Amino acid sequence: MKIAKTLGQFIIEKQADFPYAKGELSRLLRDIGIAAKIVNREVNKAGLADILGEAGTINVQGEGQKKLDVYANEQFISALQHGGECCIVASEENDECIHIDSEISKDAKYIVAMDPLDGSSNIDVNVAVGTIFSIYHRKSTEGRATIDDVLQRGTEQVAAGYVIYGSSTMLVYTTGKGVNGFTLDPSIGEFCLSHPDMQIPKDGVIYSINEGYYTHFPDGVKKYIKYCQVEDAATKRPYTSRYIGSMVADLHRNLIKGGIFIYPVTASTPKGKLRLVYECNPMAFIIEQAGGKASNGYQRILELDVEQLHQRSAIFIGSENMVKKAEEMMLCFSPQQTKKSFEGVVELQ
Ligand code: AHG
Ligand code: MN
Ligand code: MN
Repeated sequence: MKIAKTLGQFIIEKQADFPYAKGELSRLLRDIGIAAKIVNREVNKAGLADILGEAGTINVQGEGQKKLDVYANEQFISALQHGGECCIVASEENDECIHIDSEISKDAKYIVAMDPLDGSSNIDVNVAVGTIFSIYHRKSTEGRATIDDVLQRGTEQVAAGYVIYGSSTMLVYTTGKGVNGFTLDPSIGEFCLSHPDMQIPKDGVIYSINEGYYTHFPDGVKKYIKYCQVEDAATKRPYTSRYIGSMVADLHRNLIKGGIFIYPVTASTPKGKLRLVYECNPMAFIIEQAGGKASNGYQRILELDVEQLHQRSAIFIGSENMVKKAEEMMLCFSPQQTKKSFEGVVELQ
């Protein structure tokens, strides 16, 4: 049997793509991989160890934190602290950015934003959860890095990735030169290259949205859902509906099989639910790098202005032609005030 390439070997090999790289980004990715393995260990024995359930605390978004949310957050932060390549961490679980002021991190060039545990509502019921991360270069050149170093547009990302703790555990990442996926081989404790150069199909037959909120959706989204359900052999409709409730798991499936994931604005979440900095932007970078598309319904996610750390955004992400169709419906039936309204008529049949 051929020996698989490990994540560590792959990262070192790819360093040659960046002629001026001194290995810091490689080390940062390695640190993230180590934290992912530790979180994987805990997720795998959840149910046996006392790690399920509520932590009894509330995060800045007013959401109750689960014990695993807190655990994963601590593990990633401490891996970044020990690694010495990251000067500031922004996390869903912390109101403010966390500065890393240790001696080894004083010249650190990188900023990490993360959702340490995505899909919290699935933790207690043995359904796939994930971790999302996004890496930027520090822009400021003196003193401590600041929040402005974190609030960069998605287009400025140096790397982004996710870990899915599913039927197997995978780490998928991009540094802007395609997307590669690694599966954890528990027998050797290494992530091994299993999905080189991942490409999302241009068309798909899966739509993923929480249809329970249908009445709260904008008309454009309602029309798109109806479009997905109409019978049409040429476009393989009706499409199939799949919604796990962990963005990482829903998007991982759609990345492999083709599909669209939508979390729009709703009556109760008028700015969208998902967070731009550590959920939408990293996933948008990965999906674009795999040949897909990510939009807020009108504009490219990666070009949105970032004003706040915990800013929310609507998201339409996945197979290019599916996202384009959903955007068409949004422009036609839910035109943004600032946009010129779409004048064409969209045929649902
Ligand atoms: P998190 O667990 O990090 O708070 O994220 C949960 C997110 C995302 O993973 C998922 O797609 C979405 O929330 C589910 O929300 P609904 O339950 O409203 O569908
Ligand atoms: Mn999340
Ligand atoms: Mn989370």
